[in-house]
Amino acid sequence: MQSIFSSPNPLLFGIGTSKLVGEKLRELGCKKVLVVYDAGIKSAGVADTIIRLINEAGIETVCYDGVQADPPDWSVDEAGALGLREKVDGVVGVGGGSSLDTAKGAKLLQTNPPPINQYFGREGVVTKPSVPLVVIPTTAGTGSECTPGGVITDTKNNVKTNIAGVGCAVTLGIVDPELTLGLPPSVTASTGMDALCHAVESYTSQRANSFSELTGREAFTLVGKYLVRAYENGGDLEARKGMMLAATLGGISMSGALCHLAHDIGKMLGARFHIPHGNGCAACLPQVMEVIAPAAPEKVREITLALGGAVPDGATPEETGRAAYETVLALMRRLKLPSLRDYGAKNGFTKDDVLAVVPEGVEGMQQGLVKLFGTGTSPVPATKELIAAIVSRAWDEN
Ligand SMILES: [Fe+2]
Repeated sequence: MQSIFSSPNPLLFGIGTSKLVGEKLRELGCKKVLVVYDAGIKSAGVADTIIRLINEAGIETVCYDGVQADPPDWSVDEAGALGLREKVDGVVGVGGGSSLDTAKGAKLLQTNPPPINQYFGREGVVTKPSVPLVVIPTTAGTGSECTPGGVITDTKNNVKTNIAGVGCAVTLGIVDPELTLGLPPSVTASTGMDALCHAVESYTSQRANSFSELTGREAFTLVGKYLVRAYENGGDLEARKGMMLAATLGGISMSGALCHLAHDIGKMLGARFHIPHGNGCAACLPQVMEVIAPAAPEKVREITLALGGAVPDGATPEETGRAAYETVLALMRRLKLPSLRDYGAKNGFTKDDVLAVVPEGVEGMQQGLVKLFGTGTSPVPATKELIAAIVSRAWDEN
């Protein structure tokens, strides 16, 4: 088997590293930067701290605080336009995946004409290099600091899509576990499940290779060790550091091997039913683990054991899948993750509404990968019938 390893983004990792943001921007030659974040980061006081640190290094700041969840194209265009108007020479993204992805898009637009929607997709898209981009994650989940692109919502077609390439490349990720100490338990849970999905999906992807397996295995092992601890005691710095490393390694792992069914389902649930990314990806994870077990029994066994589950010696692939299902579902219940049904009641949609769009959307995403790479990433054929069965069971059981 051939293995390709690519980890495109330099990362500064460790407790207290965010204090170096001004110094690092100065080293990059920045004099005036666009700082991109959302209202939650502002109210948590993190944005103000980062802005102060940048200003103390003698660098001017212009703020875009309008980041939206599942960042819509128009919001990325707004952020980019602000940077152009203010003639910034750098971009800083602070926050969860939405803030970092909006910052990536805003960077791209500093040297590539708007709107952002002309850069969607992977095929045939060429972008020019742009100003330096520093990203500072404040959740342990997205892994966006390690990935070569960003996820943006195409509001015309109502789907989540990608930007990628040199125009939106991260110049430096500053990954400081201290920034996650104040996260509420529900956010620790949903973002932690996102990190787990990155790890287990890339580990079992058809595109998995020796390098992604190394990082993916370590990532889900760290999640098994630290997610419940971080959820139950947000001030546990060792657990926060473990989860931040899990998120970073998960991001590196998925950069090459990519994710599959849980993320494809999560993307559809996010775009169509406004379920937060981590919750949407986790919504069907127990069932996904069960259906992929016959195709990757040893890997599913390893994941189950790392998450504290038990797999009997000599278990059949089906029994291994059942153990994985039960282990992941127990973890989700311990983290009090809202179910698909809960979101249906809250956001006003039914099981039939989900079944009407998600199976077809997931099948289309996997077929797109087949066209691009010659194979999809799912270890089992992603038929509409299989996805419908997964979603239907998740609605009833989780
Ligand atoms: Fe994700």
